[in-house]
Amino acid sequence: MTSRRCNLIILGAPGAGKGTQAQVVSKQLGVPHVDCGRVVRSEVAEKTEFGAKAEGYMVQGKLVPDDLMIGIVLKRLNRPDYKDGFLLDGFPRTLDQAVKLDEFLDDSASRLDYVISLGISEETAVRRLSSRRVCPVDGRVYNLLTAPPGNEDTCDVCQNKLVQRPDDMPGTIIERLKVYHEETAPLIEYYKSGDGFLDIDGGGETDVVSESIMSAIRERGRCGI
Ligand code: AP5
Ligand code: MG
Repeated sequence: MTSRRCNLIILGAPGAGKGTQAQVVSKQLGVPHVDCGRVVRSEVAEKTEFGAKAEGYMVQGKLVPDDLMIGIVLKRLNRPDYKDGFLLDGFPRTLDQAVKLDEFLDDSASRLDYVISLGISEETAVRRLSSRRVCPVDGRVYNLLTAPPGNEDTCDVCQNKLVQRPDDMPGTIIERLKVYHEETAPLIEYYKSGDGFLDIDGGGETDVVSESIMSAIRERGRCGI
């Protein structure tokens, strides 16, 4: 567990395994996981004003505009739940978002301890996303090829019928990958000279990738482990 504030972000293409690995790292470091895609999906489901504006972008595989997204994420990070740090999954995704996150951290006399960058091939991304299924009730993520539910198409925990995310349809996956290369991949350049930058091969099996991340974190020795 951490003994002081610890801030991390996890970067990578759609399907790189950000959510999967963020859960492991967040548990091991005792730092809360902020899944920004999930934040957007809950706002859409709850039909909030933000959700109504964001939905069209999300279902087309485009990014929600910066002015909307920056506001909602930074407001959330001000909550007491994140006073000891956070693991941000899916933010920043543009240079503007990265600059605003830096300003936010400066204002709170804090910094980013680690930037976990997960690399995968486009072919792996498409295969993983096409076979992903999610529980619409508790948000658990499965994969028909690599992490199937115990019972065909129902959630192991709440037994609800699993669904495919609307943005996991073939045409939308291609659009999301294009958007990633244009708008988010440049962040690797932005962060890579920092000493907390961890360049991880995300293409291996889940446990292997988790171990690469955790051993890189142990090696640098920040965040109390
Ligand atoms: P978001 O939900 O964040 O989508 P994404 O970035 O496209 O990433 P994914 O969640 O699809 O992939 P992942 O890397 O988390 O992979 P996962 O672990 O699930 O965002 C959705 C939308 O919200 C965006 O398109 C945008 O519209 C909006 N949005 C969110 N943040 C925004 C921002 N900052 N600015 C603007 N707009 C924003 O794994 C994928 C599958 O592979 C799973 O089935 C999993 O079980 C499996 N798997 C994972 N790892 C492995 C492994 N090592 N081996 C085998 N299978 C694996
Ligand atoms: Mg995710």
